[in-house]
Amino acid sequence: MRVLGLETSCDETAAAIVDDGRRILSNRVLSQLAEHRPYGGVVPEIAARSHLDHLDRLIAEALDEAGMRLEELDGIAATAGPGLIGGVFVGVLTAKAIAAARRLPFLAVNHLEGHALTVRLTDGIAFPYLLLLISGGHCQLLAVEGVGKYRRYGSTIDDAVGEAFDKTAKMLGLGYPGGPAVERAAAGGKAGCFTLPRPMKGRPELDFSFSGLKTALRQQAESLNLEDAQAVSDLAAEFQQAVAEVLSDRVTGALRRFARETGQPGPLVVAGGVASNLTLRSALEETAAAAGSGFHAPPPALCTDNGAMIAWAGLERLQLGLVDPLDFAPRPRWPL
Ligand code: KG4
Ligand code: ZN
Repeated sequence: MRVLGLETSCDETAAAIVDDGRRILSNRVLSQLAEHRPYGGVVPEIAARSHLDHLDRLIAEALDEAGMRLEELDGIAATAGPGLIGGVFVGVLTAKAIAAARRLPFLAVNHLEGHALTVRLTDGIAFPYLLLLISGGHCQLLAVEGVGKYRRYGSTIDDAVGEAFDKTAKMLGLGYPGGPAVERAAAGGKAGCFTLPRPMKGRPELDFSFSGLKTALRQQAESLNLEDAQAVSDLAAEFQQAVAEVLSDRVTGALRRFARETGQPGPLVVAGGVASNLTLRSALEETAAAAGSGFHAPPPALCTDNGAMIAWAGLERLQLGLVDPLDFAPRPRWPL
């Protein structure tokens, strides 16, 4: 069984083909970074137009790379939300058109489900697992019990983690996109030279909060000479350390609850764009080990947005007969 997946919900245009043997037959990703950089963030109108300009070519390249023709596909999946609605329309309408013309099953995939299931493509793990989903728009802890079966343990009450990284980068003059820039700066710095808070650490509920951290960072950044590269690196390192401690603390509580409810010690799965951060990955791996839990995270390139994760979620849905009608309406907001 082979499924083509399209991803157009933010600033990556992507098309990929995966099969039911967990092989990625092709994976084409085009970043729009250069188009948005002058504005310091993603401009929805520019994103939608750019998806429209490039998606057809990426699909042709994905088929080429896999050595396949459209009629050899078993299904076509597209991100149908949540995300920037103009871009989502481009992917969904393209997938529907191909599905209608070739009489193929159409699969409307929740972008978050794509992140949530990627580890089953890369590592082949079974349900259930505890998922920490950390991306530009989301920060959630979920018990993943099956395709479409998610129980939320906690989520952010204000900013997403990726958003906190992006804002931190802006305040420290590190540019866009923020996550990788903060990670690079932090690599040359030392946590502890500055003091930032660890919001929610030690609290019994499993939610997150990053706005207090952001405010504290702004105050420190305002009295900092941004030309002083070492000071900027030290502050970036302290920020990253604060995030690592907060995530580890929340995950420890969640693993305890997960073990109580499922009778299983894990494993812990980390996914979403922020999961490509190597410092956070190793902190979370240690946290899982301390709790006696296994640890899985997709390779960094499959943590940030891509088509393979959408193709795989589509394939898992297709195997269960969860096909969607061609009048499926895209959902700009769509919680898991
Ligand atoms: O999953 P993703 O590609 O798109 C969304 O679904 O949101 O995540 C993008 C987010 C951005 O906020 C970006 O700054 C963050 O992931 N990110 C990182 C790193 N790479 C990407 N955050 C921290 N460290 C990184 N290395
Ligand atoms: Zn994403």
